Amino acid sequence: MAGESMKVALVTGASRGIGRAIAAGLAEAGCDVAIVDLPSQSALLAEVAQDIEAAGRRAYLQPMDVSDPESVQRAVDAVLREAGRIDILVNNAGILVPSPLQDLTVDSWDRHFDVNARGVLLACQAVLPQMRARKSGRIINIASIAGRQGVATQGHYAATKATVITLTRVLAQEVGMDGITVNAICPGIILTEMGKNNLGSEEAIRHWENVAALKRLGNPEDIVGPVRFFTSDESAFVTGQSLNVCGGIYFH
Ligand SMILES: NC(=O)c1ccc[n+]([C@@H]2O[C@H](COP(=O)([O-])OP(=O)(O)OC[C@H]3O[C@@H](n4cnc5c(N)ncnc54)[C@H](O)[C@@H]3O)[C@@H](O)[C@H]2O)c1
Repeated sequence: MAGESMKVALVTGASRGIGRAIAAGLAEAGCDVAIVDLPSQSALLAEVAQDIEAAGRRAYLQPMDVSDPESVQRAVDAVLREAGRIDILVNNAGILVPSPLQDLTVDSWDRHFDVNARGVLLACQAVLPQMRARKSGRIINIASIAGRQGVATQGHYAATKATVITLTRVLAQEVGMDGITVNAICPGIILTEMGKNNLGSEEAIRHWENVAALKRLGNPEDIVGPVRFFTSDESAFVTGQSLNVCGGIYFH
């Protein structure tokens, strides 16, 4: 973001994994960063804040459960009071508890949609009014290649991520006239707690490394460059798109 004025970004699910890397990466790119996550993650959030401050930027910490409308509004209002604006929203918070569809409980189906899909909607609704008033803003949704392809034991999760890809297309059309772009990133297999739990074994890791065109799986840092692209002026004419960032394990 060299040459552009300082921006304020808000990253959900920022305490660890991909969200933590994005928060640190946006600070290195010159953003002040609001980091939000579940109240249980506050000690980890404080560590992420230190990384942001070490990069010479301001960190704003707030507890936020993305599935809860009141919690989302409260946290966004608090950030706006302190930081004055939110230029960039990264919807990263997400959950995955695998299950075959045959055995999936209604509670698990609902919880995945509450966090992964409703959470994206609620955060967008909370930040959009001030973006629209300023006629500028960037929204980046972290979806998944699972949302394009569908993966056995992840039917419910894949359905939430397909929803995120669709919300990205629709919201882009609804807010483009206000100078706001909305794009998604579809990570492949990234070696976070979620990614490792999902793969389950060293054999599975070796298998997918071999499948990948680039012969490795992803690190959280692999997602940072594409996020920065969508936040920068370099992507000014790109909206409603979903970019696979997967080392070449999926091609559609
Ligand atoms: N790791 C992968 O292989 C992979 C692949 C594709 C997509 N993704 C997506 O990337 C995003 C980040 O995944 P990760 O691998 O870093 O996972 P992770 O489990 O390491 O981190 C997820 C973060 O979201 C937070 N979170 C969970 N529920 C929340 C809620 N209700 N409100 C606020 N925060 C909440 C968690 O506390 C955690 O900090 C998720 O949306 C995930 O679906 C991950």
